[in-house]
Amino acid sequence: MKQILCGTLGAVVLAGTLSVTSLNIEANTVPNPMAIPNPMGIPNPMAPTQSNAANPTESEYEISAEFGGLPVSEGVDTTYYLCTACHSVQTFAQLRVTDERWDYLWDWMIKEQGMADYGEENKEIILSYVKRHFSSER
Ligand code: HEC
Repeated sequence: MKQILCGTLGAVVLAGTLSVTSLNIEANTVPNPMAIPNPMGIPNPMAPTQSNAANPTESEYEISAEFGGLPVSEGVDTTYYLCTACHSVQTFAQLRVTDERWDYLWDWMIKEQGMADYGEENKEIILSYVKRHFSSER
């Protein structure tokens, strides 16, 4: 009788431990009902990108009055001086295009819009600047 009791008690304790353990596991793996299911980790091309949402990229940077309202980061001065000779900042600061499109626009500005070839160094500085701030990719 004592043995049976101990056995039962043991089983109850064991069952208790097991169920608590399984409960813990469950609690840790409860799926977030608000999460967008993406079991394969495939990026959703329709999901709003951060930069499109409320443009937080811009808010990270100080807006410069000196440089026509351009966000202040490396290359802002070069971009401002070389890119506002013919049109305003708005012509390019409102664009959100891909990096590839920016590369294309650089050549297009030279070939079709009469922009001087500012050279590799300026190209590098300005293209990194506009891609940092006015890209649809970040
Ligand atoms: C020699 C004059 C000149 C200079 C310098 C110049 N642009 Fe332009 N740009 C133009 C002209 C002309 C157009 C076409 C008409 C327009 O949109 O105002 C244009 C158009 C653009 C457009 C197209 C806007 C759209 O609606 O798609 C972008 C982007 C642009 N420029 C960026 C730049 C950047 C960046 C620089 C500096 C590297 C620059 N431009 C320097 C003359 C110039």
